[in-house]
Amino acid sequence: MHKITIAIDGYSSTGKSTVAKQLADWLEYVYVDTGAMYRAVTLYAMRTKMIAEGKVDTPKLIAALPQINLQFKREGGAKAEIHLNGENVEKDIRHLNVSEYVSPVATISEVRRKLVEQQQQMGEGKGVVMDGRDIGTVVFPNAELKIFMTASAEQRAQRRYNELLERGDTVTYQEVLENVLERDHIDSTRKDSPLRKAKDAIEIDNSEMNLEDQFHTILQLAKDRIAGR
Ligand code: DC
Repeated sequence: MHKITIAIDGYSSTGKSTVAKQLADWLEYVYVDTGAMYRAVTLYAMRTKMIAEGKVDTPKLIAALPQINLQFKREGGAKAEIHLNGENVEKDIRHLNVSEYVSPVATISEVRRKLVEQQQQMGEGKGVVMDGRDIGTVVFPNAELKIFMTASAEQRAQRRYNELLERGDTVTYQEVLENVLERDHIDSTRKDSPLRKAKDAIEIDNSEMNLEDQFHTILQLAKDRIAGR
């Protein structure tokens, strides 16, 4: 069957990855969580003390980029998980301390260039669902289907807060909301590849939508594109 490229962009915690993964499973496509890649680079910078007192040592991180190897590997589970230099860091990258520094790291053009190149290679053969901030605008500007997801900041913070609590993190809703607002601001005002809706993207506000409705709406769009409609 004709394979297409599906780009899902949007604000943080809009549930992009949940729907992208469901869609990839259904279509038997490859799913790529590009946020995990920016998070893994951030984790590397944190572990090697390139982030101190809230500041990223940009020149040092740029110099270290060749030493950062990222791979998605499936280890029995349903989802391919991110590996940083051979180590599975899927859980470590989700903590709030990584979330606090990932947006500044993602403003660094050299970091973006490296990750975008790898993302383009992963999607070369089509049959891919990729979620992030710049997939429809920069990584795959010719993607057959582009979705731009939005939801209110409060809704998004509540969802992320529930996720963190389930994982046993001790955070407050207020801290999570502040992080969501801060990341929205940095992600949409950065110079290189700011978060914005591609002209030909379809916007879906899921503040009032349940996961099932959202999945079926996007699946129908994907089916239409696959059929060339
Ligand atoms: O999707 P996420 O919340 O895991 O993404 C983490 C951060 O990575 C987000 O704040 C911005 C950055 N990011 C990006 O700049 N470009 C992407 N394609 C994906 C994520």
